[in-house]
Amino acid sequence: MTDIHDNPLDAPNADPFEIAARAAADIARLTGVEKHDIALTLGSGWGKAAELIGETVATIPATEVTGFSKPALEGHVGTLRSIRTPGGRNVLVIGARTHYYEGHGVRRVVHSVRTAAATGASIMVLTNGAGGIRETWQPGQPVLISDHLNLTADSPLEGAKFVDLTDLYSQRLRDIAHTVDPSLDEGVYTQFRGPHYETPAEVQMAKAIGGHIVGMSTALEAIAAREAGMEILGFSLITNLAAGIQKTPLSHGEVIEAGKAAEPVISALLARVVEAL
Ligand code: HPA
Repeated sequence: MTDIHDNPLDAPNADPFEIAARAAADIARLTGVEKHDIALTLGSGWGKAAELIGETVATIPATEVTGFSKPALEGHVGTLRSIRTPGGRNVLVIGARTHYYEGHGVRRVVHSVRTAAATGASIMVLTNGAGGIRETWQPGQPVLISDHLNLTADSPLEGAKFVDLTDLYSQRLRDIAHTVDPSLDEGVYTQFRGPHYETPAEVQMAKAIGGHIVGMSTALEAIAAREAGMEILGFSLITNLAAGIQKTPLSHGEVIEAGKAAEPVISALLARVVEAL
């Protein structure tokens, strides 16, 4: 059992991959599922997908798994769930995300992704709630992530690891998602550090450098997933138009509400995409 004050990832000589392997062994023991094929991180608005993907084999509190932190926010469910799809694949659903803005370091942020890889998953599906820069987008709309801009000035990689990110958000997986829903739009995800929302000037900067989506989670996770050799699919739920694009002030309550309202539709979409992967 680990908690926010006692996490093996924080030890000076910790090897994050060895700790991820221990976490994967905990998951195998607690779920009875030796190997997972696909992993899914469910961000705000995407939670209901877990029920639609298949039959839940086991649900475990993330705090029972080595290296996982307690959830910082209400509404961020701290559980891991093993689901068997109708097609017979094992999906690990991660409902416990540590955000960069929590200030516990990037190792903790990407531990769930490294653990997913250590359970055997070869595909990592990352989802989030985010702000939209494109004025044609509506709150409640899901968009595929085509690429990212990492504005955290940090990396989950430690040491001289020169990982290629050319096709970070797999074209193959995006093609599958488009087959399931041809109306899906795509955009470049821009990760800010948060937890404050962006200023209108920052949103204009993100737009000028090629961003379409603003958020606080996915880019660092995607880099770690690629380092671990996984294929990545990213989805953002546009919960609001970004600051200054939307003329009214942003509130966390509005973001959560938009997520709740969109949840049935986008969760069903995600379940169909997972079945098609
Ligand atoms: N900016 C950053 N993160 C977010 C936003 C936003 O506008 N909406 C939901 N998460």
